[in-house]
Amino acid sequence: MEEKKKVYIETYGCQMNISDSEIIESILYNHDYEPTADMKMADLIFMNTCSIRDNAEQRVRKRLNELHALKRRKPSLVIGILGCMAERLKEKLLEEEKHIDLIAGPDAYRSLPQLLEQVGSGQKAINTLLSADETYADINPVRLSGNGITAFISIMRGCENFCAYCVVPYTRGKERSRNPKSIVDEAKGLFQQGFREVTLLGQNVNSYRWEENEIITKFPMLLEEVTRVDPKLRVRFATSHPKDLSDDLLKVIAAHDNICKSIHLPVQSGSSRMLKLMNRNYTREWYTERVESIRKHLPDCAISTDIITGFSGETEEDHKDTLSLMRWAEYDYAFMFKYSERPNTIAAKKYKDDVPETDKSRRLDDIIAMQQELSLISNKKDVGKVFEVLVEGVSKRSSEKLYGRNSQNKVVVFLRAHHNPGDYVKVRIESCTAATLRGAEVQDT
Ligand code: 5AD
Ligand code: SF4
Repeated sequence: MEEKKKVYIETYGCQMNISDSEIIESILYNHDYEPTADMKMADLIFMNTCSIRDNAEQRVRKRLNELHALKRRKPSLVIGILGCMAERLKEKLLEEEKHIDLIAGPDAYRSLPQLLEQVGSGQKAINTLLSADETYADINPVRLSGNGITAFISIMRGCENFCAYCVVPYTRGKERSRNPKSIVDEAKGLFQQGFREVTLLGQNVNSYRWEENEIITKFPMLLEEVTRVDPKLRVRFATSHPKDLSDDLLKVIAAHDNICKSIHLPVQSGSSRMLKLMNRNYTREWYTERVESIRKHLPDCAISTDIITGFSGETEEDHKDTLSLMRWAEYDYAFMFKYSERPNTIAAKKYKDDVPETDKSRRLDDIIAMQQELSLISNKKDVGKVFEVLVEGVSKRSSEKLYGRNSQNKVVVFLRAHHNPGDYVKVRIESCTAATLRGAEVQDT
């Protein structure tokens, strides 16, 4: 049998891109390519890219320079750019980066084998068509690089929210949901392979909707179906848009032990004035009401968020509103970013990127310090509590320790004893930092 060619995929950006890279590996595997973890062995290098902030694109550009050197030494090497940057820049990328052979956007991965043939015959190849219905539902992703315990399942693609700052609706196209049966089947398959946790992914999972034979499946129903795969399969989801987070969903989460008590609810800003400019379609009051509802239905639920500092027109007053909201919400975790203007977005067209870089940086420092304090407060409250931890692997610092996560998505480290990845272990928390909980196994009596 002829040996398969080797592909190395480097993934940038969000969980959705990690999931896409697995779909890409699967498509290529069926066309005589196998993944390699060693870039130097690769016949083909793909970079699955992100455009969300300018620095994400700059990182890819830098890496491309390194790949250029590699290609000079090995001229047969094929280099392809996939994902959001490919979609955003299209042919321009081929003009700017002469050593790129192939460009494919997020909806064009089925055409990769044909594009590679084109490259094989000496041409450059490009496909950046967006689709209204592509969900890759029938493709069984290859999961080689993960931990074998936790996996992502993409349940929808695209986004039509058009937040003023965001490039995603332009790079990932129209919102579309995937057939629920294919989602449940994928979860079953993963469980049989030994996976114990799935995260259902979409830009706004609360707007998931599938209609077939006059039956409409919405997200709470889909979530319930996935929980039924097995009580030992944990289910997470991301991301929820605050405007669509319903009490129905909270009730479903409360009703099932294997739905993790952790909600990622990006607020972006604590100022209603900023939220309006950002086109988020909710106010500070709406958001705080949603958080109160989470606390009511799910008293032990962790809440995490995304925050942008220095969006167009943001004043010190707006910034203070963000800090006060953070303290009020007592976030367990936050992803925090400086606003980066993206070409062709609503904000780029309508507003001036007018907050000076020094102010953006200082405000980012302020919110990072605030979150550091809140994460530590949150973790300290857990000392003395017992959590069921799903073991994900052996601690990098010590082979005698294991790490895993509790339902609230917090990392827990404890002594290994006889356990292995995939086990559920009851751990009593003894100490913490802002980032980690440490504890000891509780023996069942
Ligand atoms: N600049 C900075 N952060 C951004 N995000 C999205 N677009 C931008 C931008 N232009 C952040 C948001 C979003 C997260 C995935 O990235 O907080 O929730
Ligand atoms: Fe993911 Fe958005 Fe980056 Fe695209 S631009 S990879 S959707 S984070």
